Amino acid sequence: MLRYFTAGESHGETLVAFLSGMPARLEIDQAFVDRELWRRQQGFGRGGRMKIERDSAHIVSGVRHGKTIGSPIAILIANKDWKNWQEILPVEAGDPEKHKRVASPRPGHADLAGALKYNFPEARYVLERASARESTSRVALGAIAKLFLRRLGIEVLSHVIAVGKAALGNAEVPWEKLQELHAKSEVLLNCADAQAEERMKAEVDQALRTGDSVGGVFEVVAHGVPPGLGTYAQWDERLDGMLAQAVMSLQAVKAVEIGTGVGSALSFGAAVHDEIGYSAGQASAFTGFTRASNHAGGIEGGVSNGEDILVRGYLKPISTLRRPLGSVDFATREPVKAAYERSDVCVVPAAGVAGEAMVALTLAKCALEKFGGDSLEETLRNYEGYRQQLKRF
Ligand SMILES: Cc1cc2nc3c(=O)[nH]c(=O)nc-3n(C[C@H](O)[C@H](O)[C@H](O)COP(=O)(O)O)c2cc1C
Repeated sequence: MLRYFTAGESHGETLVAFLSGMPARLEIDQAFVDRELWRRQQGFGRGGRMKIERDSAHIVSGVRHGKTIGSPIAILIANKDWKNWQEILPVEAGDPEKHKRVASPRPGHADLAGALKYNFPEARYVLERASARESTSRVALGAIAKLFLRRLGIEVLSHVIAVGKAALGNAEVPWEKLQELHAKSEVLLNCADAQAEERMKAEVDQALRTGDSVGGVFEVVAHGVPPGLGTYAQWDERLDGMLAQAVMSLQAVKAVEIGTGVGSALSFGAAVHDEIGYSAGQASAFTGFTRASNHAGGIEGGVSNGEDILVRGYLKPISTLRRPLGSVDFATREPVKAAYERSDVCVVPAAGVAGEAMVALTLAKCALEKFGGDSLEETLRNYEGYRQQLKRF
């Protein structure tokens, strides 16, 4: 069973990521893991923090001589900013004079709810863990899940389909185009259409000018997924439900859509269901069944159907504003402006990368549940048997 946890504070010494259940003998490409971490740090509208950090995964267990050995994988990702925070946020008692309070909770952030829950007089410790710096650990784990999925012929990528009011007209982007986007060494807003990307940039520019922030929508695409992952047999084993929780759990994601689910809810059935055909000659990678469209986003009945899996994450605008909204001082209860701490203004491309990680981890978990295997060879053998069964269907 694939299980994973993360630990670490935003300005602590290091982030920690833990993954257990990955089969032995999977090759780990360290450069690939670090590139995924780099991708999470990119995008127009990121704050100063991303200029300080240059994330790198320091794998300390579970991988030997370049391959997994079946034991739990632990990864450390150092916070370069720690050198400036050692006295502000020490593990030991330290000097209270040096602490850096978050004196007035930010509307939209976890500050107030977290302080009430954990009985903190102010929100420093809340911010430290609620911060999306945590998603770095998930991206490191997701990279390992991607390396595993790749061996099954499955790839996971993302693109941005809206920033604020600027949206990609036709969100049906060919897989090859996504690969091109992924290969770029510079990321603006990770949009497949240059004109739409310029309009998206203008939205971010406006937010930068006015001390505001802006949200948007990313789409994660999983390519090469066989039919049969997830099941309708039990409510918590449905693939759509698992993906929804995985992506919704990312900071600032407030809605998750599978395929064109939202638009489909406002349409007639004949316009949205994906007609089925059969062509033995032009068989897909798995079967001879074909689809005229993919509004379902590759999942029907909680089961993957062999089409690309499409998962969209809807992000609210960042809640730390340079022109802060009204709040209350934790100590005096007097009305004040909400706290401001160096912040991103738009994070949709980065959230897409974190979304990829969550989708990859979910698919890897489902694939391991279906095919099992303590070693990669065993998993691949079982998978090949299933592929033969599909071919013979
Ligand atoms: C990649 C990424 C980066 C983020 N950066 C910031 C940031 O710099 N400042 C901020 O206030 N919120 C940022 N957020 C969003 C907050 O972490 C999030 O709004 C907060 O934890 C409250 O959680 P919720 O929005 O899910 O309710 C970021 C989110 C993501 C996905």
